[in-house]
Amino acid sequence: MEMAVQTKGLTKKYGPFTAVDSLDLEIGQGEVFGLLGPNGAGKTTTILMLLGLTEPTSGIARVLGMDPVREPLGVKRVTAYLPENVEFYEDLTARENLLYLADLNGISGSKAKKAVEEALEKVDLARVIDSPVGTFSKGMRQRLGLASVLMKEPRLAILDEPTAGIDPEGVEKILALIRELADRYGVTVMLCSHMLYQVQRVCDRVGIMYSSSMIASGTIEEIGRKILGERRKTVKIVSQGEEPVKEEELATIEGLSGFCRLGDAVVADFDETRQKEIIRDILDRGYLPMEVRGEEYSLEEIYLRYFQEV
Ligand SMILES: Nc1ncnc2c1ncn2[C@@H]1O[C@H](COP(=O)(O)OP(=O)(O)OP(=O)(O)O)[C@@H](O)[C@H]1O
Ligand SMILES: [Mg+2]
Repeated sequence: MEMAVQTKGLTKKYGPFTAVDSLDLEIGQGEVFGLLGPNGAGKTTTILMLLGLTEPTSGIARVLGMDPVREPLGVKRVTAYLPENVEFYEDLTARENLLYLADLNGISGSKAKKAVEEALEKVDLARVIDSPVGTFSKGMRQRLGLASVLMKEPRLAILDEPTAGIDPEGVEKILALIRELADRYGVTVMLCSHMLYQVQRVCDRVGIMYSSSMIASGTIEEIGRKILGERRKTVKIVSQGEEPVKEEELATIEGLSGFCRLGDAVVADFDETRQKEIIRDILDRGYLPMEVRGEEYSLEEIYLRYFQEV
């Protein structure tokens, strides 16, 4: 199957300054991909090149098989883009704004009317459909932007900070909508965000950009293993009798570390590759190994670790 997004050596220079440097990126169809990185890393510039809104200095990009430089209209037809700061006509209502956008996208008449109403319903703006956008809060504007994306029924949705300035309840709603776009309608979603926890929850894979280059990409599991090493596994060790567990005794077991007392029990990190031997050693000392847990990688931890090191 053809990739939704594919770039090879994609580069953008502004004079002597390189905003995006030899970017290789692949996003499969129906995937939710999170593009991360600090301010100025080159995320928006990458998006603009994919959309054919700015021309690459070198390298190639393909969006659903099309070259955005040569077929910008073809790309535009199947892609919906929600920019960082989405703007609407303040004195027009939500309905009027979306009808106008529908018209620009070649949807009109009763089909447009229905699409607009359905989209506004989905983002919870049906109540204010006939209110001027000038009266909308930031969160409502962002949701209106998302409605304009839904209305277009795109194959690729590119969302730049879709949850910025939205309250927690609104965020939940938007994340659910993003997942639904991918899972139910097979839409590929490319999402730029600084909200790492949200990205972790909604994205299948992520890419981290720093200073114009992609420094890591893959599933959170893959990147986590690379950056943080093998995931911590813990085991809770309890005593079989009255005596509390003795840490000094556990310390003699190879592969157990990071002891932490929890009442009469002790929780320890253990080396996954020695799991069998460790469990036997614990039993040999008269203790019981309980509650073996594998910790999940946190994107926040990965990200912070990365930027501590660079
Ligand atoms: N039109 C332009 N002319 C000159 N430099 C530009 C232009 N557009 C972007 N840049 C520079 O390119 C770099 C990357 O910018 P970009 O907007 O792609 O970053 P970003 O990753 O989207 O950042 P943010 O998280 O702040 O949105 C920045 O240093 C920016 O100043
Ligand atoms: Mg940006």
